[in-house]
Amino acid sequence: SIMGLKDYYQDYFPVGVAVYPEALEGEQSKLIINEFNSMTPENVMKMGPIHPEPNTYYWKDADKIVAFARKNNMKLRGHALCWHQQTPDWLFTDSLGNTIGKKALLKRLKEHIYTVVKRYKGDIYAWDVVNEAVADDSTKIFRESEWYQISGEEFVAKAFQYAHEADPNAKLFYNDYNIVRPEKRRRLYKFLKKLIDNEVPIDGVGIQGHWSIFEPTENELRQAIDSYSSLGLKVQITELDVSIYPWEKNVREKREGEKDDYTPELKKRQTDQYEMFFRVFRDYKNTLTGVTFWNISDQYSWLDTYPVPGRKNYPLLFDQNLQRKQAYEKVVDFY
Ligand code: XIL
Repeated sequence: SIMGLKDYYQDYFPVGVAVYPEALEGEQSKLIINEFNSMTPENVMKMGPIHPEPNTYYWKDADKIVAFARKNNMKLRGHALCWHQQTPDWLFTDSLGNTIGKKALLKRLKEHIYTVVKRYKGDIYAWDVVNEAVADDSTKIFRESEWYQISGEEFVAKAFQYAHEADPNAKLFYNDYNIVRPEKRRRLYKFLKKLIDNEVPIDGVGIQGHWSIFEPTENELRQAIDSYSSLGLKVQITELDVSIYPWEKNVREKREGEKDDYTPELKKRQTDQYEMFFRVFRDYKNTLTGVTFWNISDQYSWLDTYPVPGRKNYPLLFDQNLQRKQAYEKVVDFY
């Protein structure tokens, strides 16, 4: 087999990829094995999919990914134990449909985390324990999620505590987006510092890395890694993709029949952006303990439907035919 990303980066950090179970067969699976040495389930370990009813867990898809990781000697990150999206319908209400209280919610959180984390003990080396708890609104620290509305900020510390009890060896991460932007970075820094001061068992920060040809700048990226690591935390890039559109949801839906505009100029800007990111990542090889792409190739990305449907994006290092793009060549050009 030919060298893959994981081989070029073997002296730096593991290179991971988000996967859905169907990718573990056929051509995509060969690419995964050749290029990556770490995986994250894109959806199947989230609370809604894995815990659809109060006393029912759905393990099949998650187990398939775990078995593939074992067989191919790949690291596995778990994603995500506590998030405001993709939660099961029953989570925040009792059998009469009334919103439950804090004590009951924390009990459910504990039961969920214990069950899932213990099942995959020894297979999953790192968990995204709390995902996206920080608000986008700069006047607040916490997002007004149901978790927060019911329990206040306590659910965050509790989630880490439960995960640590369930698997003391797992590396526990707080994971979020746009946290390389200086303003959100500063709010997250304060919040993380408070967790650490309160001796909450947190090991690292996952910088999602849903970036674009417009952001972040090299300085912003360096400042964010410096800032989080100054707290003694490990840093990972957990969900890397480089959109050809701006992040903010102000881009209209594509009109019927309109061509996708992945022009040579956009390709070039994206390539430059990828090249810069990986140059910075290499500089931080003692701080960064992983870089994971949010899916395999431009055949499929969540950005094809987010934030607006019907607008094709091309955010990854492999094209729609699973071939390496210019950006790939630049990312491994140092070798
Ligand atoms: C996304 C998945 O990629 C989609 O398939 C799903 O429909 C929604 O969630 N931040 C996260 C990820 O932490 O879990 C999200 O994944 C992308 C944003």
